[in-house]
Amino acid sequence: MLDMQVWFSASGTGSENLRGVFDRIPSDRMEEHMSQMKEKSRCSGCGICSEVCPFKIIDVQKGSQATFRPERRHLCQRCGQCMAVCPSGFVQVEGLSYEDNFAGIRPFGFGEDEFADFLASRRSVRNFDRRDVPRDVVQKVVDAVRYAPFGSHPEKISMTIVDDRRTIESALPMVSEFLGRIVPMIENPLISFFIKKSSTPEVFNTVKNHLYPISKQGTYKLENGDRITRGAPVLILFHSDTAAEARTANTLINATYAMLQAHALGLGAAMVEVVPAAVNQVKGLKELFQIPEKHEVGMSLILGYPKYKYRRAISRPVPAANWI
Ligand SMILES: Cc1cc2nc3c(=O)[nH]c(=O)nc-3n(C[C@H](O)[C@H](O)[C@H](O)COP(=O)(O)O)c2cc1C
Ligand code: SF4
Ligand code: SF4
Repeated sequence: MLDMQVWFSASGTGSENLRGVFDRIPSDRMEEHMSQMKEKSRCSGCGICSEVCPFKIIDVQKGSQATFRPERRHLCQRCGQCMAVCPSGFVQVEGLSYEDNFAGIRPFGFGEDEFADFLASRRSVRNFDRRDVPRDVVQKVVDAVRYAPFGSHPEKISMTIVDDRRTIESALPMVSEFLGRIVPMIENPLISFFIKKSSTPEVFNTVKNHLYPISKQGTYKLENGDRITRGAPVLILFHSDTAAEARTANTLINATYAMLQAHALGLGAAMVEVVPAAVNQVKGLKELFQIPEKHEVGMSLILGYPKYKYRRAISRPVPAANWI
């Protein structure tokens, strides 16, 4: 077993990058928590760290202190769960520090009903007023992803924040042109067959049954206005290397967290999938948004101050739920 306070090497684990993610936790929320930690930094042998570790890396034998299982330590994801749960602040995972990567939990001021109300009152906002969103407010939206669950390697998801409307507008002709091309491609049986063969059923069905009919109506033509980013002052692109672990799920969860944070701040946001579809195919768009060559954009979020106030929640039927 390895002693808790001196454990494994960070080499090859990406911990530096993860640290970068955690580093943005505001230091003003750390103080109270840290003073509690320092007062009682001893292992009581309670075993909670071992129970919460998803990979059973920590061993706590009755009456002894927690130790790391050397044969399992390479499985560590630096998820931080063991350090977050330890009552005495004893666990020390290399690459994470109580000072830099953890914060006290403020009591949150809403219960079950308020949370349901919060979710129910969120809408995909596609109409914005003319106000720009200050950078410090956008930053809060961006920062929300630090609390998102992840499948693996959260540090591999990047965000590109475009808060200059002129840049967004200079992208629109390329996005529009790309979306317009969907129509002749789907209507050509040979090309349509090729797209079907070379993509997943999900992608093909989305293009054929969702994007094609919208595009055929001329929706994305710029002479009909900006029906792509809807005049939003901010566009956030979530992207990653195509080989990044769990990138599809991680990207969508990050975008969801950002969208919910936007709602909490009184902003309006909507996920827009047509922008990533275009950026991933059109070189000029990748260059404009400075997306690394090997990256794919998984989702985009438009953001701004909402023009309209929704008067009621939309209560959709709960999809099939099978109780066993
Ligand atoms: C994966 C995904 C892709 C979406 N893509 C677009 C899009 O390209 N354009 C758009 O206007 N809205 C897009 N939306 C927003 C949905 O249309 C919206 O969530 C839906 O109409 C329900 O409205 P609500 O979010 O207000 O409940 C997308 C949402 C999701 C989850
Ligand atoms: S949670 Fe902390 S106090 Fe409890 S066994 Fe683990 S290291 Fe020791
Ligand atoms: S950081 Fe996560 S994976 Fe690593 S030892 Fe702690 S709980 Fe286990």
